[in-house]
Amino acid sequence: METKNVLIAYHSQSGQMREIIDQFIAPFRHDLTYKFFFHQIKPVKEFPFPWTSRQFFDVFPESVTEVGCELHPIPNELKQSYDLIIIGLQVWYLSPSIPITAFLKSDDFKELANQTPVITLNGCRNMWFMAQRSIKGFLLAAQSNYVGHLVWFDKVNNLVSVITIMHWAFTARKDKKWGILPRPGIKDEDISKARGFGETLKHFWESDRLQSLQDEYIKQGGVEVLPHLMSMEHKAKRIFKVWTRLSLKQGGPGTPKRDAVLVAFKYYLLFMIYLLSPIATLIFYLTYPLFYLRIKRNIAYYQSVR
Ligand SMILES: Cc1cc2nc3c(=O)[nH]c(=O)nc-3n(C[C@H](O)[C@H](O)[C@H](O)COP(=O)(O)O)c2cc1C
Repeated sequence: METKNVLIAYHSQSGQMREIIDQFIAPFRHDLTYKFFFHQIKPVKEFPFPWTSRQFFDVFPESVTEVGCELHPIPNELKQSYDLIIIGLQVWYLSPSIPITAFLKSDDFKELANQTPVITLNGCRNMWFMAQRSIKGFLLAAQSNYVGHLVWFDKVNNLVSVITIMHWAFTARKDKKWGILPRPGIKDEDISKARGFGETLKHFWESDRLQSLQDEYIKQGGVEVLPHLMSMEHKAKRIFKVWTRLSLKQGGPGTPKRDAVLVAFKYYLLFMIYLLSPIATLIFYLTYPLFYLRIKRNIAYYQSVR
């Protein structure tokens, strides 16, 4: 049987995405038909982990504007044609993380992905909808064949995961904040479900049905949508763009005047999350029947690869 070459390009500060990938490809491990090539996406100027609060908010404008950053190029030995490309990614400020944006926009990626099936694995906190819209755009621009999209997120309450993710980001420790809050990030039992999605991929690929893989992933619960978060993101994105314009007017990364705007943004964000979002969620569910058809349409859009 002809060997199938698979490129896995991923970025992960904590290693969480690598854990997901390892589970996802576990069903292929003993099958010599498949050959896996790994490319860890690395910015030339690394982003910190753990972050200081200032560093964490300083990447906000460039995340939102999706300008990317300079990356180490793909090594020459990985430049070949692939039968499948798997991208392990995460979200920063409702956009693909800066290194992932840079990769998806790069000529290296466009060359490799042209007419090639692509699957994206997204490991985030829980707000991924607007980022998914951008990802679809980048994959379309690269003329790739988008066949699969899976999302893992932290299933604890939105107001709790904001605290735990910041604890994780600011300490690089995945332990329980104050000894009582849940551990940050995606739960181990959810990560281990990646293996099942890998099995589905193998099954669909071997029966030449990659084009209907996503329908099966949706049936298997591979892209769970929390409708109130989806609705909130549409509004949050508009607000993010206003704060981005305000901070970019003050200058580039690290500029002191821009720092002041970003500190104001930090407090606005906390106000939005802890005071406005519970009210918005309540209104969302009270008016749910009025917008039922639109919500259904949006869910279908964010679950699909079209
Ligand atoms: C600067 C920054 C911004 C983030 N913004 C979001 C976000 O808007 N939505 C979300 O669901 N997760 C967000 N996250 C969480 C990440 O998507 C991701 O789950 C976490 O950072 C672990 O990723 P890793 O694989 O790089 O370790 C953010 C993380 C960072 C560091």
